[in-house]
Amino acid sequence: MDKRLIVGVSGASGAPLAVELMRQLKANHPEVETHLIVTKGGEMTLRQETGMTLAELRALASVWHDNGSIGAPVASGSFRTMGMVVVPCSMKTVAGIVSGYSDNLLLRAADVCMKERRKLVLAARESPLSTVHLRNLYEASRLGAVIVPPMLTYYDHPATIEDCTRRTVDRILAQFGLDNGGYEWEGMDETV
Ligand SMILES: Cc1cc2nc3c(=O)[nH]c(=O)nc-3n(C[C@H](O)[C@H](O)[C@H](O)COP(=O)(O)O)c2cc1C
Repeated sequence: MDKRLIVGVSGASGAPLAVELMRQLKANHPEVETHLIVTKGGEMTLRQETGMTLAELRALASVWHDNGSIGAPVASGSFRTMGMVVVPCSMKTVAGIVSGYSDNLLLRAADVCMKERRKLVLAARESPLSTVHLRNLYEASRLGAVIVPPMLTYYDHPATIEDCTRRTVDRILAQFGLDNGGYEWEGMDETV
């Protein structure tokens, strides 16, 4: 398997997840060549939620692509990758993915992953979820995408929001077989 991973960042809340994922990949998985694509909305939420600039996020990537560069290598199935994660993934981007409406590089790269039957992980986030959102997420799952929403857990006793962020990032990386040595449930000595 080629160790190239496409990371799409769209305009849902959760930009810290993208930052943490990129930091983890750079620090703990230097063998993975990351290809970063950030939408305009992703750039806005990055600024709002982290104070980081697009340039600072791009500096964490092996390679970055402008979202308008629909001729970039990741726009073709002949460019082999492990797959793609969209983190965070907006409902608009989910809609684009399930309808095959690939009018930007992020959507095209996701479309390519689906047509090549490569792993596509969506850290989709909205609340509450409308029937349209739920229908599109169901459709994305049916089409082979793995939906990994940033959802809180309490059983692992997170102390900070950074703990919660790391748990979601661990779950995403695990989807690509990238173990981070993170939290593991040890079981409960009780029955129902
Ligand atoms: C601060 C902020 C937070 C947002 N949070 C969400 C969200 O959690 N989920 C979502 O689907 N859209 C959210 N949006 C709206 C999207 O950014 C918007 O629909 C945008 O067009 C998505 O485009 P993109 O998927 O190309 O980035 C948010 C927008 C802003 C400015």
